[in-house]
Amino acid sequence: MNTIWADMRQGVDARLMETAGRIIASGGLVAFPTETVYGLGGNALDSDASAKIYRAKGRPSDNPLIVHIACLDSLEQIVSSVPEQAYMLAHSFWPGPLTIIMNRSAHVPSSVTGGLDSVAVRMPDHEIALALIREGGGYIAAPSANTSGRPSPTTAQHVRDDLDGKIDMIIDGGSVGIGVESTIIDLTEDIPMILRPGYISLEMLRDVLGEVRMDPGLHSRDPSFRPKAPGMKYRHYAPKADLTIVEGRAEDVRAAIDSLARDAASRGLTCGIIAADEDACGYHCGIVRSAGSRAREITISQHLFGILREFDDLGVDVIYSESFDTPQIGAAIMNRLMKAAGHHILKV
Ligand code: TXA
Ligand code: MG
Repeated sequence: MNTIWADMRQGVDARLMETAGRIIASGGLVAFPTETVYGLGGNALDSDASAKIYRAKGRPSDNPLIVHIACLDSLEQIVSSVPEQAYMLAHSFWPGPLTIIMNRSAHVPSSVTGGLDSVAVRMPDHEIALALIREGGGYIAAPSANTSGRPSPTTAQHVRDDLDGKIDMIIDGGSVGIGVESTIIDLTEDIPMILRPGYISLEMLRDVLGEVRMDPGLHSRDPSFRPKAPGMKYRHYAPKADLTIVEGRAEDVRAAIDSLARDAASRGLTCGIIAADEDACGYHCGIVRSAGSRAREITISQHLFGILREFDDLGVDVIYSESFDTPQIGAAIMNRLMKAAGHHILKV
């Protein structure tokens, strides 16, 4: 299949957007930017379209998709009833990087929800995404637009690397703003529960809802204690090289990584290092990539997945990363990094 490349870096192009909407309405797939990561969109009310999404990504079909909407009225069609808490969250955070899980209505095909009785819904904060949803009929099912298991795409080129020839169109809207996927909150639980950390933090959600808890399965290494979001159980974002996170006082971490990188070099291995701007010049060996500044944590989330992809392209053998436990997005950054590292941490 010939994948159409739609350049919208300067903003929505009405003619190309009409074509994109027609593709969605006729059951095809369009990758598009959101404020978090690029999504792979298909009509959420068409079970054949979701089957195509699973196929293009190589994604297990028990892993449900997020339904993206462009206006709050659309919510009533796809959930059995809208909980008061959903309105409170929507009022505070939509459009934005928050996905809300609610009980689904019969309008949502079970292929979209991986057979679950609940549905994940999000209103993205991105002009192109919102225009595509409207143009495509109001409901777009969209996982991140990567091949299953690879880091989520933060540029249109990442999407092309994974999905060129497998989907109908890629809309290039430039680099995304946040770089890690949306926070997922589950309102079907007695106490609202975060299934995936993201830009919207536990504290921000507590400010609106009061009591909120983290899915205990997120932090457990016990395989019998699984995260509730099916997608969180897979080894994800995994780079080809072995990745180790090094934790401790800043100067100890720098010394340890520097020595590990020299050791790798002496064994003929290529070593990648993920550092913060503040530390990057302290390394003397290996391929050093600065994710961003600890003082501007969003710069770190923006670049993390791109660096993991770059290290794959460069064919590095081992990766050592600093830890980025920053105040708001740190939980999300470390959740993704820990999964990429297969929970391999070295404390120094
Ligand atoms: O930021 C984002 O959320 C991006 C952009 C494109 O919007 N999308 C995204 O989708 O990250 P995806 O498919 O890569 O991740 C969706 C996650 C998966 O972990 C999935 O298991 C979980 O949401 N999920 C979806 N529906 C669910 C449900 N009904 N119950 C529990 N988890 C659900
Ligand atoms: Mg994903």
